[in-house]
Amino acid sequence: MILVTGGAGFIGSHICVELLEEGYEVVVIDHLSNSQKTSLDRVQDITGRTLTFYEFDLLDRSKLERVFTEHDIEAVIHLAGFKAVNESVDMPLTYYHNNLTATFVLLEVMNQFNVKTMIFSSSATVYGKPAYNPITEDFPTSATNPYGRTKLMIEDILHDLMKSDPDWSISVLRYFNPIGAHPSGKIGEAPNGTPNNLMPYITKVAVGHYKELNVFGDDYPTVDGTGVRDYIHVVDLARGHLKALYKAVTETGYETYNLGTGEGYSVLQLVKAFEKASGQPIPYRILDRRVGDVAECYSNPAKAERRLGWRAEKTIEDMCLDSWRWREKNPNGYATMTT
Ligand code: WQD
Repeated sequence: MILVTGGAGFIGSHICVELLEEGYEVVVIDHLSNSQKTSLDRVQDITGRTLTFYEFDLLDRSKLERVFTEHDIEAVIHLAGFKAVNESVDMPLTYYHNNLTATFVLLEVMNQFNVKTMIFSSSATVYGKPAYNPITEDFPTSATNPYGRTKLMIEDILHDLMKSDPDWSISVLRYFNPIGAHPSGKIGEAPNGTPNNLMPYITKVAVGHYKELNVFGDDYPTVDGTGVRDYIHVVDLARGHLKALYKAVTETGYETYNLGTGEGYSVLQLVKAFEKASGQPIPYRILDRRVGDVAECYSNPAKAERRLGWRAEKTIEDMCLDSWRWREKNPNGYATMTT
């Protein structure tokens, strides 16, 4: 049985689909602060299989111990955490408490029940401002905001834990920019409030929720002056977790993997690809750069291919089409349709 913390979220729900379709038993813990239980109903609808869901905060140790008592957990995929960069700058203590303390409680309970296999959701943000691209896992790491610092701190904590007890098997997955949605259009990205990220904002322009896209800067040293990122389809990302899980249950140790396509697309290139795939025009205006943004950030994913036998397969057109299908079918995300 696999425990997925934060499993009701955008990435988590797609991982649950892949786990269930692969025949795993799945337990999800999520306090639904940035997700909706509806996503898990749809996960079960897509797969025709059931999962067990607990709604509570990982900080509640007694409830967490009960989950480990009642279920034979083989490994944990740990996604639960706050993840908005700008929000973390305004609320550092909330981010440190929620992201770090919850991880401490989880690791202590795992240790208590002798469950020592962890797949951890990290982020390319730990590379800070990369000196050059593409980025490999041995690049220097640094944090430019409290959110990124929590990811970096947890990576170091996990590494120290494994060094203290070599029975641990820990895989750290550094996500580049996950976009897209399950091809069914039943689950997808549903951020609360105004989207910080590019694709959910684009799809809201496409459905007429916003008049135009704000492009944050066109004076970067890039192909067309706008920011370049490594967009990866969320289904490819989810499948990367299963490959990491196969590997993690067969060996011990600590490894980090970049989960990206290895290709960079600029903001305007993504806009054009989206317009072509969806047939929806995306008007935009150029604004100043966003504080904290880097010009370019894209991966060299060769290590994951070599050691995990995983490579992203979906194209930028797939990502755009699947993002559009999700938003067109669910203009208000998981919220019930407003009259
Ligand atoms: C992508 C590009 C923006 C919005 C962040 C986090 C990272 C991870 C993914 C959690 C940049 C431009 C964006 C908009 C724009 N999150 N942009 N207009 O910043 O690469 O990564 O989200 O794990 O940790 O740092 O993603 O989608 O916000 O921005 O022009 O309305 O799109 O400047 O060049 P980012 P993003």
